[in-house]
Formats: sequence, structure tokens, C-alpha cells
Amino acid sequence: MLKKIHHVAVVVRSADTALQFYCDSLGLPVTKDAVIEEQGVRGVLLQCGHSEIELIEPVRPDTGVARFLATKGEGAHHICFETDDVAAELARAEAKGLALIDRKPRTGLAGQIGFLHPRATHGVLIEYAQPPADAAGHPGQGAGWVQDLDHIVVAVSDLEAGVQTYAHNFDLACSQTGELTMLRGRKAILPIGPAFIELAMLSGEAGPLDEFLGNQGEGIYLVALRMDDLPPAVRRLRERGAQVSEPLGAGAAPPRQLAVVAPRSTHGLPLLLIA
Ligand code: CO
Repeated sequence: MLKKIHHVAVVVRSADTALQFYCDSLGLPVTKDAVIEEQGVRGVLLQCGHSEIELIEPVRPDTGVARFLATKGEGAHHICFETDDVAAELARAEAKGLALIDRKPRTGLAGQIGFLHPRATHGVLIEYAQPPADAAGHPGQGAGWVQDLDHIVVAVSDLEAGVQTYAHNFDLACSQTGELTMLRGRKAILPIGPAFIELAMLSGEAGPLDEFLGNQGEGIYLVALRMDDLPPAVRRLRERGAQVSEPLGAGAAPPRQLAVVAPRSTHGLPLLLIA
């Protein structure tokens, strides 16, 4: 049983440099920072409400993460779902005939982990993690800026197929479908814990999502964080050199504001700030 989105991972050239944005500018506290020798990576977890953002820096050239960086550059790498039994989760996935990278759990940054192959989920690499029993809770950010992970947008070329895949693979049910707010297309909302995954499909007109699908295929399109107050956050990020759009009204009920941080400021991860 999947409990929530544990983290979304970003491959970066240098974790130290990326921390200047994620920790110093965005204000996310570091909860773990370790080199995992057998995987050839340095991983850093940053608390983001009930979820985390994971920065992954390759420390050897002969790893999948190093090859990802060399061919695709910095950017979103995988989504991790938290479970209380990663071995059972992998066994269930195998019984369903899903393509796996790991058939048995191994030790990772977030506890006992295992990966599905991206071809099981329309090009999105999915990790399962079972945090250690004594893992710290997930307190809110208090007076800080980032309250929580709001949602992750995954670009798909066929919305119905996407909804079916997430239902089949992860028992995630679609709570709502509708028009995309800022782009021409349709979306499906898949709640998981306090956050949700938004599958997004363009309606065929040229636009940023269309360009993304053309360039990279289906995959993680953006990550949305819920902020306590947007204008001061935008001001502070700009003072620290980040490229952030003007806050816009999102026209939802209750009224929401949003701003986009450019991927060049976030090390490849399109970031939407929502308040
Ligand atoms: Co991970």
C-alpha cells in the first residue's frame, strides 16, 4: 500500500551548487546527505512538508546517473512512493508483469528501496522506499516558505492510457479530470497522501508541453510546491539570483497565485510555486 510521495529526485552536476538554490534560497532543510558508494552517487534529501526533494550527484563516471547527466543534463530523474513494505511492493509489481530494475529491496538514501523500470510507467522511473522505523516525522515548515509538495505534473501522450497505467501499477485512482489551467489540453488528478500526481496531455496545439513531449517524450514535467505567501518568496528568490515569473492569479476557487521558477535556476527542474 502506497502512503504518499516520499520524494522527487533531481540529477545535478554538483550537489553543493544545487544546495545554494534548494537550501539557501528556497529554504528547504537538509535531512540527509551521504555518498552511496555502491551506486556511485552523493544523495541529499531536503524536507518539503510531507515529502522531500532528493538531489543526486554522480561521483563516478560509470553509473546510470552519470550517463543520465551526460546525455540529458540536469533535471528530474524519478518519483519515489513511500510504502511500509518495499519487498511486498516489488513482489506485487512483478506479479503484475511490470518491468523491474530491482527484484529485491536494497539499501538506499531513503531506507530500503527498489526501482521499477521506466518502461513500466510511460517513461517515468519509479522508486519505492520503506524508511527506517525510527525515521523522523515530517513536521511542516512552520514560518518558512515552502509548506508542502503540492503536486507533480507528468506529461503523457494518451491521458486514458496514463490513468489506466497508474491505476494498474499503483492503485492510484483518478479523482477528477478537466482542462489544463494554463496550457491547452486535459489533465487527470491522482491523489496520493496529501499531494497528487497530475497527468497532463496536450490537445495537439503547439505549446510548452507539446515541445517537452517532442523533445523528451513522456515524463516528469514539473513539480509544484505550496508556499505560505508568494510575493515575499518571489522577491527573496529574485534577490538571490533566481529567475522567477511574476505571481499570477490561477483563477481557481479558492483563488490561488502561482509563479514559475526557470529550470536554469533550479538545476533543470521546472518548479511551480503555489500559494
Ligand atoms: Co530516490
